[in-house]
Parts: sequence; C-alpha cells; structure tokens
Amino acid sequence: MKRFTSVHDIGDLKQAVAEALEIKRDRFQYTGLGRNRTLLMIFFNSSLRTRLSTEKAALNLGMNVMVLDVNQGAWKLETERGVVMDGDKAEHLLEAIPVMGCYCDVIGVRSFARLSDKAVDYEERILEQFIRHSGRPVFSMEAATRHPLQSFADLITIEEHKRVARPKVVLTWAPHPNALPQAVPNSFAEWMNAADYDLVITHPVGYELDPRFVGNARVEYDQRKAFAGADFIYAKNWSAYADPHYGEVLSRDRAWTVDREKMALTNDAFFMHCLPVRRNMIVTDEVIESPRSLVIPEAANREIAAQVVLKRLLEAL
Ligand code: CP
Repeated sequence: MKRFTSVHDIGDLKQAVAEALEIKRDRFQYTGLGRNRTLLMIFFNSSLRTRLSTEKAALNLGMNVMVLDVNQGAWKLETERGVVMDGDKAEHLLEAIPVMGCYCDVIGVRSFARLSDKAVDYEERILEQFIRHSGRPVFSMEAATRHPLQSFADLITIEEHKRVARPKVVLTWAPHPNALPQAVPNSFAEWMNAADYDLVITHPVGYELDPRFVGNARVEYDQRKAFAGADFIYAKNWSAYADPHYGEVLSRDRAWTVDREKMALTNDAFFMHCLPVRRNMIVTDEVIESPRSLVIPEAANREIAAQVVLKRLLEAL
C-alpha cells in the first residue's frame, strides 16, 4: 500500500479485518518491520485518540515516532500558492512539505475541513499537497472529507460484535453546539457501503450528505423509524453539506439526542461514537454508560487499524 486516504486504498475488507484481528491477537509479532524507520505525524488540528493510537501502533512495529503540532512551535504556514507573503505566515507549505519528507519514511497528516469553501475542502488540498510533494507514503489521520482510520476501527468493532451476517447499521445525526465537518459521517457511510451492511442514514432536513458517500444507503428523516430493528446505532454530528448552507449549523434540536427511549426501538443495538462526544447533546449519560455502548472498544481498535495501515505502508517501502 502506497497511501491510505480512503476505503479505496485498503483493498478487500474481509482480508483487512482478518489482518487486524490477527494483529490484535499479538500486536508485537511484526516488531522488526519498523526498525530504523521513522513515522512523522503532522497535526493541523487537535487530537487525543488519533495521536496516541497511531503512535502506539508505530511503537508496536518498532518505528521511531516524531510529532509536529503545526500550530504550536512551528512557523505559521501559508497554504495558498501565489500569495504575497507579507503577513504573519513565515513559511510556505510547498517548502515545508518536502523538508518534512527529508526526516522520515512515512507521514501521517491531520487537516480538517475549514468549512468556508466547499470546493477547497472537497479537493483535499492539504492532504493532496503532502501526497504530491513529500516523496513519502502518506496516510490520513482525518482530512477534510474522510476519517478512514476511524472508519476502519468502526468496521473492526462491528465485525467483532455483530450477531447477523448483514447487520442493520444506523448513522444518526445528533445535535452539537458547533459546526463540525462531514469527514466522519462521509467516511463511515463509505466503509459501511463497502462492507455491504444494511445502512440507514437519519438526519433533519438540510443535513443531506454528499451523494457520493451516501451511496446505496437509505435516508430516513424520521429518526424513530430509522432506529426500528437496528443492530448498531452510530451517532455523529455534522454541519450542512448542501449549498447555500455549507458548513452551517441548521439545528441544535435535542429531540435528536440518542436516549434510552430511542434505543428501546432497536434490536438491542450497540451504541457507537468516534469520540470526543458531547454528553447529553449527542447521547445521554445513561446510553453511553450502558453495557451496549461500544465507545471504548471502538477507540481501542484505533490502535489496531493504525497498525494494519502502517504495516502495509512499511511493507511497500
Ligand atoms: N476519533 C478521533 O479521531 O479522536 P481524536 O480527534 O481525539 O483523534
């Protein structure tokens, strides 16, 4: 594998999950693979899980790890070409990227959507520049439109817990005070479609996702109807995708919060969320603390997903 930015890079999903479960049984079995290899993780945005799980995965493989928080201690970076750099940005990404490439063997990048210009976000300008100019294999640690490491961990978690071959998986919008990108729901839908699960997406009118990610999923505007018979409930907030409201918060309606009464409509479903989560906005304390909540095993599987990806990138060096 030369890069990892979406489900399209991982190949056969059954094989990827089998590889993940094999690594999970003994995560130190490939510890020589990363010897004298360096991972550079670059964060344009904050992280808890991605940072720790990816670093742990690299250490399990015997890699050296360097982390750069672009907004803390590095020169402020200009990202647009043609700009007269007479402001506060001291360095251009077009020099910074190949320089970063000089010091490592593999690069992970986290760069969220800015939500001000849909075309810029959906072109994945930052991630694509790293792929083009770093000279190194690049993987996404959540970009503007996708979060494939999260979705891979979600898939592993569902495969570990499903009780039927083709579970009903419901992606539900839930309220949040701030405008959040569509990366997690886009990516989740893309991976669930690729896994051929029975995927239903439910959200208020105005929160329709890019049809390229919705794919074969059914869209149900009545959240209670969507929950009926579900095996997995995956909650997430996102801002509007459709024009003219791209990146806007159209609703903070707490009638969409996932609670015990709605979970009772399901087929004793598991509750999932990528974290961090706003309690009693997205989900009630009672549901997230219930025995059906998978949020911690899901986060734990981030290490395994990252280790499969890093292993495959190292094998292709
Ligand atoms: N789920 C996830 O990516 O968490 P972090 O933002 O903390 O990395």
